[in-house]
Amino acid sequence: MKEKLELILNNASDEINKASSVQDLENVKLKYLSRKGELNSIKKNLKDLSDEDKRIVGAFANEVSNKLEAMITSKGDDLYGHELDEKLKKETIDITLPSDFRPQGKVHPLTQTVNEIVEIFQGLGFSVMPSEYSPEVETEYINFDMLNFPPNHPAKDMQDTFYTKVAPNVILRSQTSGAQIRQMINQKPPVRVISPGRVYRCESVSARKNNLFHQIEGLLVDKDITFADLKGILNEFVRIYFGSSRPTRFRASYFPFTEPSAEVDVQCIMCGGKGCRTCSGTGWLEVLGAGMVHANVLKNVGIDPEIYSGFAFGMGVERLTMLKYAINDIRLFFNNDTRFLKQF
Ligand code: PHE
Repeated sequence: MKEKLELILNNASDEINKASSVQDLENVKLKYLSRKGELNSIKKNLKDLSDEDKRIVGAFANEVSNKLEAMITSKGDDLYGHELDEKLKKETIDITLPSDFRPQGKVHPLTQTVNEIVEIFQGLGFSVMPSEYSPEVETEYINFDMLNFPPNHPAKDMQDTFYTKVAPNVILRSQTSGAQIRQMINQKPPVRVISPGRVYRCESVSARKNNLFHQIEGLLVDKDITFADLKGILNEFVRIYFGSSRPTRFRASYFPFTEPSAEVDVQCIMCGGKGCRTCSGTGWLEVLGAGMVHANVLKNVGIDPEIYSGFAFGMGVERLTMLKYAINDIRLFFNNDTRFLKQF
């Protein structure tokens, strides 16, 4: 039995030395030292020996077992260290290599303007209208009739409208003013809201006009609201948005849904008021339409014009952005050329 143990010790030592991976070593350990391993099968036979031999052989078996354990542990440390080194070498990353170029996304200039204007009006006590009051696919009824455009009146031609095939009288809205109607049907005064959104007009595209653009509608209805309130709010808006040094003017105008009506012009940024192609030689550029909500509009939504009055305004987002940053072609907003967009 002792010889057998010596043989095991020799063979096992050999195999341990030869093991070239952690897995090899694990197999050797299983073969000799596990419960079903060779050493254990000898220990099981000890019971057939005399007491004296049992003691001697048993002690020797333990010695062999301890030796092998120690060898395996030390070899294991070597192999593990070696394998780790290899792995680390393989997985090394050269952090000095240049990386792939990933351009950073930015908020679109029109969205920036909308956000900025919304913030200004929030500061003036307005809140943003729920978006369900301002659908882009709208009825002629809301977009025109409820806003006091007389049926078949040439005023409808002021805005060249896109008609759809969905149903007769279903259009792409030509202005955000329909949102006023939906707002006032759903909420009685006091009302103090703004509503940004897209509008569509069937126009030939040029540097000044696109057939999709953005407006921000504003509506304030309460008791004792006068034109002075309108002027105060819009002057304050222009002052915050452009800075106090930019000349502006109110000019009498006409919209079917406001009376009296006005347009606000800002001095042309391209020529500084001298007159150029951008401003058609006038030195001024129109940025918004406004006026006191027409009594007929209030009646249409069931608000008594004897008790309430209000004002509304609608501003062009593209125009306001172009004037602030001296952009001379509206199409730049829609081409998505990153050389343009990344400047904002
Ligand atoms: N909806 C008008 C337009 O698109 C602007 C406007 C809005 C005028 C509200 C008066 C009041 O031209």
